[in-house]
Amino acid sequence: MQLHVVSHPLVEHKLTVLRDKNTPSNTFRELVSELVMLEAYEATQDLIVEDHPIETPVAPMVGKKLAKPRPMVVPILRAGLGMLDGMTRLLPTAEVGFLGMKRDENTLDIITYANRLPEDLTGRQCFLLDPMLATGGTLVAAIHYLAERGARDITAIDIIAAPEGLKRLEKEVRPDIDFKVVVCGVDEKLNDKSYIVPGLGDAGDRLYGVID
Ligand code: URA
Repeated sequence: MQLHVVSHPLVEHKLTVLRDKNTPSNTFRELVSELVMLEAYEATQDLIVEDHPIETPVAPMVGKKLAKPRPMVVPILRAGLGMLDGMTRLLPTAEVGFLGMKRDENTLDIITYANRLPEDLTGRQCFLLDPMLATGGTLVAAIHYLAERGARDITAIDIIAAPEGLKRLEKEVRPDIDFKVVVCGVDEKLNDKSYIVPGLGDAGDRLYGVID
């Protein structure tokens, strides 16, 4: 696994405002989009391009365009949806799939309750979006879900990670998967409710408000 922590004064500034409990949902959503764009710039560094001949007003030249098949962006519901806008602003030609995953309260297994993904992801560069990499359970399950469909090049873009989740990914993700994690920050630890400390609270609630 490769871990990339995006280090930039703008990221530090925006992440601090995002963490602040007094930041309202509309500002929170805007900041998530901006942070994802900054992360996506680095996360897409290995995108495959191919030669593309064009003519400028002055002369012919061979430029570069993203190669086919198109990259696949997969937000994990619900909180990952808040990252989709930022990602597709940078990568408008990507195809978008969706993955809904949650923990079964009785068995504690991760179950997939929704998916809209191509059956065959062979040769696709895949980008999973989930703001909080906490225990890592959902992300491990999501990576293996994509891998069962043939994906071998998977990048997870998260806003904040906990060391516990990163360790779990290192241990549990299949070794044949080329796997990268891009984050804005790695925090101290998880608390006894599996929230990241200091973190930013429940990302889904902060994006979309709490449903009683
Ligand atoms: N999910 C969240 O939304 N926040 C956390 O701190 C951990 C998991």
